[in-house]
Order: sequence, then C-alpha cells, then structure tokens
Amino acid sequence: MIASVLPTYNRAPLAFERGEGVWLFTADGTAYLDLGAGIAVNALGHANPVLVGALTEQAGRLWHVSNLYQIPHQQRLADLLVANTFADTVFFTNSGTEAAELAIKMARKYWYDKGQPDRTGIIAFEGAFHGRSTGAIAAAGSEKMVKGFGPLMPGFTHLPYGDMAALKAAVGPQTAAILIEPVQGEGGIRPLPDADLRAIRALCDETGTLLILDEVQCGMGRTGRLFAHEWAGIAPDIMMVAKGIGGGFPLGAVLATENAASGMTAGTHGSTYGGNPLGCAVGCAVMEVIADDAFLAEVRRKGALLRQRLEGLVATHPRVFEEVRGQGLMLGLKCRVPNGDVVNAGYAERVLTVAGGDNVIRLLPPLNLTDGDIAEALSRLDRAAARLEGGDA
Ligand SMILES: Cc1ncc(COP(=O)(O)O)c(C=O)c1O
Repeated sequence: MIASVLPTYNRAPLAFERGEGVWLFTADGTAYLDLGAGIAVNALGHANPVLVGALTEQAGRLWHVSNLYQIPHQQRLADLLVANTFADTVFFTNSGTEAAELAIKMARKYWYDKGQPDRTGIIAFEGAFHGRSTGAIAAAGSEKMVKGFGPLMPGFTHLPYGDMAALKAAVGPQTAAILIEPVQGEGGIRPLPDADLRAIRALCDETGTLLILDEVQCGMGRTGRLFAHEWAGIAPDIMMVAKGIGGGFPLGAVLATENAASGMTAGTHGSTYGGNPLGCAVGCAVMEVIADDAFLAEVRRKGALLRQRLEGLVATHPRVFEEVRGQGLMLGLKCRVPNGDVVNAGYAERVLTVAGGDNVIRLLPPLNLTDGDIAEALSRLDRAAARLEGGDA
C-alpha cells in the first residue's frame, strides 16, 4: 500500500520537535548539531528571535492579500535587494524552482521582444540542480531527474561544468542565455573558478547572451559575500535566489537588470502567494542581518576556521575523507567511503550533514554559528569518522 505521504523522499528515521540556533531536538530531548540547516535554508539558525519576532508580528496583522494589492513589506524587501546588489528589479516567488521558471521565461521573452523569437537556447551544465519542475529538470538535464518525464522542454544544451572551450564553441546566434551556479550545491560543492565566471561574463558581453546565475544555494551570505558572484567581481543579468532569503520561511526571488527584465510587462507572469506579507516580513529581517559587512566578515572568518579544522579532519582520517572544498560556510567533504555511510555515522554521533553529488557530504550550517559550535562539530565528525574506521557505523 502506498504511504499516505507520496514516497518520493528517502527520509532519515529522525523527527525533530524544536530547534534553537544550530541545535535540533527530538521529542525525547536528544540534541543534534545541525550542519545542514535544512539544506542551506536556516541561515540564521533555528527559532532565531529576530525572525520569530518579524513573523509573529506580521502574523498578528495580515497574512495574505494577493498581488492584486500593494504589499509594503514586498516593496521594502525589493528595495533592500536592489540597494545591495546589481539588480534594478525583483520578482518574488515561494521557492527556488519557481525562480528558475521565471528566469527561463524572462530570458526568452527578452529576445522575443527584441525581434529575435528564435533565440531561445539556454546553455546549462552537467551536475547542475535548478529544481524539480518540468522546466528546471530540463535545464539540469541529468538522467536521474528527467527519466520518465518526457517530452522535456526543448532548447537546453548541457556542457561539462567549467569547460570553457566547449562553452565558447556552443554559444551561437540562437543562444538566449547561459545558466550556471557559481558554486554547484547538489552537484557536490563544486566552485567555479573566479576566472571562469569572468570569462563567461565576457563571452556574454561579446555575444549579447544573457547571464543567469542560480544563487539559490550559494547566495545570501553563504560563501562570505552577499552573493557568490561578487568574489569574481562580475554581475549577472538575471539571478535566482531562495533558501536563505526566507531563513526557513518559503521565499524566493528573481533579481534582474532593467534591460534583462524589459520583456516582463504587466500580465506576463504572476503568483498567488509570491511575495506575501509573511514571507517578506521575514525576508526583510534576514536581509537586515546578512547584508551587513561585519556579519559577512564573520562568515568569512568562521568559514576559514571551519575549513582549516576540516583539513585537519581529512588528514586524521584519510581512509574516510579525500578533500575539503567550497567557500565560506558552503563546504564539502569528498569521501572515500560512500557518503551515505558518513551521513549515517553522523546521525549516530548526533551531527547532521547533507549528502551531495560526487560522493560529497555538505556542511551548510547556520551562518551565525559560533566558534564553540565549530569545535563541537569537529569532535562529532571526528567520532563519526572513527566509527567508520572501526567498522561499527
Ligand atoms: C542551486 C539550486 N537551484 C534551485 C533549487 C530549487 O529550489 P527549491 O527546492 O526551493 O525549489 C535548489 C534546491 O536545492 C538549488 O540548490
């Protein structure tokens, strides 16, 4: 008999009742150190008092009105995003997948309105993840995601991540956009070198192609800059954001330049819930904390500390771990044993990590974890690795 919840997830046999900062608690009070943060979502930790305050304050006033009316918090959040990024304009969604859908539509509509309706091609990359809608799976293109769901949305070309020669050869007169994650998340914490991102920007400038960055996982302070592309000193034309921007409340956004967004006139796109008062009240509170130089400097400092400690872990357990990669507090440990075994050994030591592609475990902790939390994380990960070496995981 089918489960009453559609069985599309492989869930761990764990349920949490309460959270506080980097900690999650089961009903019997057992504490787990959460280095996954709901897959890079709880950017400011669980039950953060500032976010709880913003949400409950708004919940007592007004939940939903729809986009038929003005939403002052939505306006405020858009202004904050525009003030702190390359963008001139923002559309709010409820998830990263919806942001992917709009990014694709926006790029195609741009060329349609410029009198080039056949310029619909989008170049994307192997190992990418952009969500699970029919458009987003076509964009990522991996067999695992698309098998059985055809016919797929046409127009996508897939190239090896970071293969600049293949990219230069692939961009042509029908290419509307290049879509890329500056750091692949689900793909296994694979950062694109800054020089490659700069070369992609230059290629887009030469050919007029739009650059769409998917910063759903690597954005909102995760790498130690507000957005990961800032490390390369470039800006996209269109950017997808979600996860951390809502700190746990479902919220996403597409940010764009005025030029890239020029086709998206009244009636071309919409959402019942996107940018609702609850999500945007929380989003404003999140942005006020994260888009602060001192906060981001701390993310960089703690990211460097965590990375250094993880290098030590790899050196101590070379049969379990191969290398550390990533940036800021978006770090991956490439494993020599199956990554699922490492995640399970972590459960036994009450530390939560997230499996990713390329046999990596991802560490995506709340950005405001403390040095003490990092020390605790390392001792738990060390014990988890020792379990695997001892064969009793
Ligand atoms: C880079 C990236 N893009 C898009 C998505 C899809 O976001 P959501 O699950 O909020 O729809 C994800 C989710 O993991 C992601 O990591």
